Amino acid sequence: MSESPPHAPSALPPVGADRPRRVRVHHLRAAKAAGERLTMLTAYDAVTARIFDAAGIDLLLVGDSIGDNMLGHPTTIPVTLEEMIPPVRAVARATQRTMVVADLPFGTYEASPQQALASSVRMLKEGGAHAVKFEGGHRVAEHVRLVSGAGIPVVGHLGFTPQSENMLGGRRVQGRGDSAVEQLVADAQAIEEAGAVAVVLEMVPAPVAAQVTKSVQIPTIGIGAGPDCDGQVLVWLDMAGMGSWSPRFAKQFAQLGQELQRAAGQYATEVRSGAYPTAAHSFTE
Ligand code: KIV
Repeated sequence: MSESPPHAPSALPPVGADRPRRVRVHHLRAAKAAGERLTMLTAYDAVTARIFDAAGIDLLLVGDSIGDNMLGHPTTIPVTLEEMIPPVRAVARATQRTMVVADLPFGTYEASPQQALASSVRMLKEGGAHAVKFEGGHRVAEHVRLVSGAGIPVVGHLGFTPQSENMLGGRRVQGRGDSAVEQLVADAQAIEEAGAVAVVLEMVPAPVAAQVTKSVQIPTIGIGAGPDCDGQVLVWLDMAGMGSWSPRFAKQFAQLGQELQRAAGQYATEVRSGAYPTAAHSFTE
């Protein structure tokens, strides 16, 4: 009988341990070096954060996508720091293993490195986040340097950056054409040099994402950026079939929206008919 080859030890803390260890910055570097793919999802509350943490998702992003996914805004642009902090706190409290990354919303970091630091400090002190994320390359390199220098891990975000959608002409694939590719690589290298610990690449052609991934030592985490990034991130409602639509690049791993609608409809039918509650669901004394 042939023995199966021993599993190489993971670069990341084990999933399902009795006393889970948190995913930390050095694990991200080790995972890239070991060729181990990182998993990231968004989370906006304690209920889903607990489930995703137990499922072994390595990083949870409290994204400003809370704006269009949970708060009923048309885009991420109206989201404020005050709206972000309670969900960050809920996600941080509910998790044991995952690294919690808090997005800095539009208007809370661009003005200066000092503004970025002040907003990041609030995400850690008031929200309990372990890292922050903000959009941009060269233009925010000094912001990344100051925030990282203060001991706060920074995740960058390049490619399609939703907060700049008015400048980018809507939700459009970025990094097309030689000069755009060069710019993307230069931006990734600029924020790496300034101290970023990882970078999200959103909606860029797969070969371009592969080129950026090879050009930096920090992990790239793709969303609509093909299979050759060091990790993947999705908005959880898109991957679970919860939204009214989902982008082409998002695979639906479940149809939870339909199932929830079915359950709510069944509940309403049974309440109306008197089928629920039965004696089994009632206190008799
Ligand atoms: O806010 C968010 O959910 C994001 C992801 C799309 C990466 O930034």
